[in-house]
Amino acid sequence: MYITVVGIGYVGLITAVGLAILGHTVHGVDIDAQKIADLLNGPCPLYEKNVQKKINYLYAKKLLHFGTHYRRHDRIFFLTVGTPASQDGTIDLTPLYAAIDSIIAFVPNGALFLIKSTVPVGTSRKIVHYLREKNVCHAVVSNPEFLREGNALYDFLNPDRIVIGADNTHCTAILTKLYQPLLNKKIPFLLTDPTTAELIKQASNAFLANKIALLNELSDLCVQTKADLGALSLGIGLDKRIGEAYLKGGPGFGGSCLPKDIRSLSRSFHQYGIASHILPAVITANNHRFTYIVNRITAILGGIKNKIIALYGLTFKADTDDTRGSPSLSIIELLLAQKAIIHGYDPKTKYDLLTYNEKGSIKFFSNPEETLCEAEALIIATEWDMFQNIDFEKIKTKGMLKSNIIIDLRNILNKNLIQQQGFSYYCLGRDI
Ligand code: UDX
Repeated sequence: MYITVVGIGYVGLITAVGLAILGHTVHGVDIDAQKIADLLNGPCPLYEKNVQKKINYLYAKKLLHFGTHYRRHDRIFFLTVGTPASQDGTIDLTPLYAAIDSIIAFVPNGALFLIKSTVPVGTSRKIVHYLREKNVCHAVVSNPEFLREGNALYDFLNPDRIVIGADNTHCTAILTKLYQPLLNKKIPFLLTDPTTAELIKQASNAFLANKIALLNELSDLCVQTKADLGALSLGIGLDKRIGEAYLKGGPGFGGSCLPKDIRSLSRSFHQYGIASHILPAVITANNHRFTYIVNRITAILGGIKNKIIALYGLTFKADTDDTRGSPSLSIIELLLAQKAIIHGYDPKTKYDLLTYNEKGSIKFFSNPEETLCEAEALIIATEWDMFQNIDFEKIKTKGMLKSNIIIDLRNILNKNLIQQQGFSYYCLGRDI
């Protein structure tokens, strides 16, 4: 099938590559000419496992193209443009409507619009009305994405389910054909209406965030009661009704989806005249986490004013270069507010020095060992595998870390080993 993907950001690029791997001929369109030029010339502008290799292969097979304009035969449009959110949960749908306007100005009636961007519940139906008012006739289907950054291509090709929100069987038949290679793998195909499909997306992220936030609160109780956080997480996760995923303690959940979706969902409750008590509590619990962690760091170090603190990991989780909504950055801001001096290191992300220099004294390093220079303590904020392979023996022997304090907010280091090497090791659920 010939498919156009509109908006080549994170979701759009993975959708385009994924659909081409399924055997479709995919045309990715973005209004940003520079982005398209970067994609055409390489390397791939986003850090995601295997994607560059696949793009090269799909280019060669002529299954994938990118450009700034639609083509005459384009009829099936995946809309994957960004839907930016403000703090109160309002989602800005201007980019989505701008994309729709650009398509309806170009294609004759009878096209299919597949909404993959995460939108507030009820948006697809509003788009149907919008098209009617414009006197054009196109079908609108909600087909939310459930891609985790860092595993996005894998998730596209091996989803737990495909959710299709469509109002007519003709659309469903097209979608069945489009996803046939995945249906052959017996991946559940959930057919519902567009409003429910939209809600499934945001409600799924709300559930995940809920699990993480509750586990993090329980982690605080583990500190007080000396219960074992790892065993607790496993013990509750083995209950099939709960499930093992999303029960890892950490500095709080972040990223561009979980916090945004909860705020947006909470706002939808408000707009429909009902209240959610749980969703705002999840956000409050998560924000409180950052303050709690900084208070613990301050207590461990006996004050942090003018002390150098090294921090490994700036992205919101490992295996991505994305710092949007990163707990590390929230923690850094709170540390800077108390006049700590931060030495930051991350294996992948690009740093925006200017933004942070305005907020306090911070310096970013390109080498993990140099980051430790003169530091009182090391905080591990993101679970990059490479942090487990750092030569702490050498760091200890050479006295690179002044007070030999390591605070592990992801519990990724081997406690016994690191203590044997002579470090004071503080980890989640035990000391923090
Ligand atoms: C999320 C959803 O998982 C995905 O389905 C959706 O489409 C987009 O949003 P993503 O934002 O890439 O994906 O991140 P995810 O892997 O879900 O992690 C979100 C945050 O939760 C991260 O900050 C992560 O570190 C944290 N987390 C996750 C935990 O603290 N503990 C866990 O057990 C799992």
